[in-house]
Amino acid sequence: MKKKPTNIPHEEQLEPLAFELMDEQLSDLANQLMLIDNADILYEQSKRIVGVVVDLKEQMMMYTCAMKQVRTKLQILNAEYNVRHQRNPITSIQTRLKRIASIVDKLDRAGIPFSVENIDQNIHDVAGVRVICSYVDDIFTIAEALKSQKDIDVLVEKDYISNPKPNGYRSLHLILSVPVYFTNQMRKMRVEVQIRTIAMDFWATLDHQLKYRQKVTNGEAIAVQLKECADVISNTDMRMLLIRNQIEENTEAPTEMAMMIEKIRNLDKPFD
Ligand code: GTP
Ligand code: MG
Repeated sequence: MKKKPTNIPHEEQLEPLAFELMDEQLSDLANQLMLIDNADILYEQSKRIVGVVVDLKEQMMMYTCAMKQVRTKLQILNAEYNVRHQRNPITSIQTRLKRIASIVDKLDRAGIPFSVENIDQNIHDVAGVRVICSYVDDIFTIAEALKSQKDIDVLVEKDYISNPKPNGYRSLHLILSVPVYFTNQMRKMRVEVQIRTIAMDFWATLDHQLKYRQKVTNGEAIAVQLKECADVISNTDMRMLLIRNQIEENTEAPTEMAMMIEKIRNLDKPFD
């Protein structure tokens, strides 16, 4: 049989003390419950945020892979052209992954909420490849060679060379979809490719820098001058192409043996 405790105070004695204690304990408990409740919410929130970061990082990794793929395709075309024609149509290739801040800003300007899915569906230039060519005709040679590859889908093509922008901007833009193979999946990733000559790039780079300087008071006068420069540059591009063609036409054709030796020389060069 259970022994009755003997030291229990009298009910009248107990009452004030017990209520005081109970009050304290109850408020403690309430605080603890609130903390637990908040902690649960906070934990769920941070789990969601970490999840988004993981998805975003993974998506960005995939865009980086897609850029590498396009870059390799371009390098192969350049190397092959060099062997066949003894010159490089591509002088340089730059790749850039759009920064998160620019992505957030672009979605915000379009009134689209930030999510990995929305980035994938709405931002076509997360992966950007810029190809700088020697001559204007090289741009189209390279673009056609890329476009004709069976694994590449051309989603958008904008020819700002045949139809320059009113400000004088010239470039050939392609939005491509390229497959990227991972261990357990294949993903089709979008890559924006801008192809332009050295001269067009010179103009576009300065134009871009100037646009970042805000509050230009004589904006219109500057725009007129920039347009004039763009036209001069385009004219120079055309003249350089004509000069190259003239040189090619007026150069004595090499013998078959000389051509083969030249080809071996080019194939001997490191391919990278
Ligand atoms: P976003 O401006 O990127 O949203 O693309 P869009 O849909 O207007 O396409 P567009 O093909 O016109 O421009 C794509 C990219 O080309 C831009 O992000 C710039 O990098 C470049 N670009 C277009 N217009 C100009 C220009 O006037 N000057 C310079 N410097 N770059 C330009
Ligand atoms: Mg852009």
